[in-house]
Amino acid sequence: MTLSNEFVPSRIKSTDPLHEQWNLTLAEREVFRRRAREARLAKDAAAAGLGGTPLHPVNVPMFNPDDLMPQLTRNGLSTLSLFSGGGGLDLGFDRAGFDHQGSWEILPAAAETLRRANPSWSVYGGDDGDVREVDWKPWRGNVAVLHGGPPCQPFSNAGKQRGASDPRDMWPEFVRAVLQTRPEVFVAENVAALASATFSDYVEDNIIRPLERHYQIRKVLLQAYEYGVPQVRKRVVFFGFRTKTLAKRWAAPSPQYRRVGDERSDLPTVVGAREALGLPDIGFDDVSPTIRSGLSGPRHTTSILSSVSAQRRFEALQIWPNGVAATRDAASAYVTKNGHFRLSVADVALLQGFPESWRFAGATYMQLGQIGNSVVPPVAYSVASSVAAALR
Ligand SMILES: C[S@@+](CC[C@H](N)C(=O)[O-])C[C@H]1O[C@@H](n2cnc3c(N)ncnc32)[C@H](O)[C@@H]1O
Repeated sequence: MTLSNEFVPSRIKSTDPLHEQWNLTLAEREVFRRRAREARLAKDAAAAGLGGTPLHPVNVPMFNPDDLMPQLTRNGLSTLSLFSGGGGLDLGFDRAGFDHQGSWEILPAAAETLRRANPSWSVYGGDDGDVREVDWKPWRGNVAVLHGGPPCQPFSNAGKQRGASDPRDMWPEFVRAVLQTRPEVFVAENVAALASATFSDYVEDNIIRPLERHYQIRKVLLQAYEYGVPQVRKRVVFFGFRTKTLAKRWAAPSPQYRRVGDERSDLPTVVGAREALGLPDIGFDDVSPTIRSGLSGPRHTTSILSSVSAQRRFEALQIWPNGVAATRDAASAYVTKNGHFRLSVADVALLQGFPESWRFAGATYMQLGQIGNSVVPPVAYSVASSVAAALR
């Protein structure tokens, strides 16, 4: 017999080695199960043509992230990519002209996304992609840039912020790869919380101190909408330069766009989420709130909601942030209860700055996880371009 306050495990086996279950009682799990059952029934009804009368025709987006990152000529500079995920950094560096040498990613579906996008790339996925198992020394002296986004869950405001005591903390692995390969430049991205006072000791002990003898380290905070992508998404990027000369030659990426209503600069205004998605004018538009990060949340979900304030912004935009559909056709057929626009995976990818040509692999929640975990590609492009300029 299960006591009412006893935790029970989920019946769904996780496909993500980094997935951490929530501790839930039977009654609490039943609430989620009932919601999932209802959603499944509604989705099946929609697929059978019983999903209500579509309020919006299938949307035709007005925003093309390709315009923000035109392919630059090859610069002959090689890159290694660690913790590659769905490939935001990989795409940005590729478009900025770098030569991709290899990607390492533990999740098979994410590795498949990278292979699909670029069949000629060397992609190490699943067990072969586990950076903990790689000896980087053979690469020593042959790498211009080593980049990566170690998992952010140990530091994220949405998580338990256990830092170094979280088994998912992979910063020591990133540092090991840098010390073994000794690239000209390293680039590492993470949630903005890692740059906060909470983690200043962590950053000093685990990033700065082990690397500062060999690298000039710089840290910048970058906001996605300032690079043309209609989303509030602030991230920290660490840059490490092998020499003082290189560090001096480098200029941090500078904002290219401003948000509607921000009168502090005369930069062009970034497109709003509704306009980007090609939705009808409702007299209000703005950038999307931050799209939920990660595959390793409490449960597999097709919701992109990250906070209560995000929920309010989605409501004002009349965009429904839950039950994201696999395709635009499926989204249009599956009418939301409040009449707000239902998103598809392709729409979420667009709000994250991925072009339509970048096709994610795996189940819907898995694709959304790769998107929400990624560096916004046009931001990655600006980062990569700034590094290329210093290395030339
Ligand atoms: C924040 S995401 C990286 C996103 C990526 N930089 C991008 O721009 O799309 C972190 C990734 O690290 C991967 N990962 C976690 N542990 C790993 C390990 N031991 N070896 C390789 N990849 C790992 C996760 O599966 C996840 O995709």
